[in-house]
Amino acid sequence: MRLEGEHRRSIARTADGKGARILDQRRLPWEIVWVELRTAADAERAIREMWTRGAPLIGATAAYGLAMALAEDGSDAALDAAYHLLAEARPTAVNLRWALDEVAKAVRPLPAPMRGEAAFARADAICDEDVALNRAIGAHGLELLRDLHQRNPGRTLNILTHCNPGWLATVDYGTATAPIYLAQDEGLPVHVWVDETRPRNQGALLTAFELAGHGVAHTVIADNTGGLLMQRGEVDLVVVGTDRVTANGDVCNKIGTYLKALAAHDNGVPFYVALPYTTFDPATPTGADVPIEERHPDELALLTGPAAEGHATVRVTASPAYNPAFDVTPARLVTGFITERGVIGSADLMR
Ligand code: MRU
Repeated sequence: MRLEGEHRRSIARTADGKGARILDQRRLPWEIVWVELRTAADAERAIREMWTRGAPLIGATAAYGLAMALAEDGSDAALDAAYHLLAEARPTAVNLRWALDEVAKAVRPLPAPMRGEAAFARADAICDEDVALNRAIGAHGLELLRDLHQRNPGRTLNILTHCNPGWLATVDYGTATAPIYLAQDEGLPVHVWVDETRPRNQGALLTAFELAGHGVAHTVIADNTGGLLMQRGEVDLVVVGTDRVTANGDVCNKIGTYLKALAAHDNGVPFYVALPYTTFDPATPTGADVPIEERHPDELALLTGPAAEGHATVRVTASPAYNPAFDVTPARLVTGFITERGVIGSADLMR
């Protein structure tokens, strides 16, 4: 299934300019449903319940949520209340707080009646900037892929990724997917191993949907398969996105990322992390200081098929379940960070 019209732009202002339009990602790839957010409470719910998700897109959604609150009431009290409501919607991705801080900084000096429009303008700019950042990440990552291809010109480049680091997790292009899309556009022979990414299956449902829409060859694998593929030489590189990189270069990303980094290290497979500066958190010293979101155990214990096909929800365990949503990959396991500034090491993140 392809998206027509506004292909790949995952968030935009509503036609009347007073709200934001997002895709309800809980229904992908079975149904394409655009939803209009009209209040800060709508935005908070969409983030908390993961109608919308992915670090940069959470930030963009929160920025619009704050703008909606200020358009209603531009007072300091309204600003502070909406800021805190939205900041607490999800704890791990640093982009959420970054975007809220950007909007708050832009509007605080202004008189209350002017704050709503100024906040919307800042939210629009955050979205446009995200697209430009990801485009730049794509260009730098493409050089890496070209390099690998030149070393083995006759071979398909096999890339493994985890979770959904695509345009659905950002405003457009994605972070880790941006180089892949550019490589595909250039005609490089790429194939992507897509980790299914239990328990919410962002890989099987969302990344696979995106790659199919862009015509990229891909295969969905169970989360435990990557190690075997790496031992067999069937992975040329791993590229993931991230929800927060700390001052020392530790990488917080979807649960399971760390195991992929360990397997990559053991097998001499390069492990790259793609991120814009909005995901770097210099104020947090190490990954151990990042709040790891714990989600409801039912996300793990219940499996639900596509409603459109009449599938029922089934319980897959009779035991208690535990569902932390992110893990931390130590900086020492990361080959390089693909950023809008180029491919850099952890020591260069602070520069
Ligand atoms: O829980 P989610 O689906 O919001 O998690 C998203 C991820 O872990 C992505 O890989 C991450 O946001 C970085 S990619 C832009």
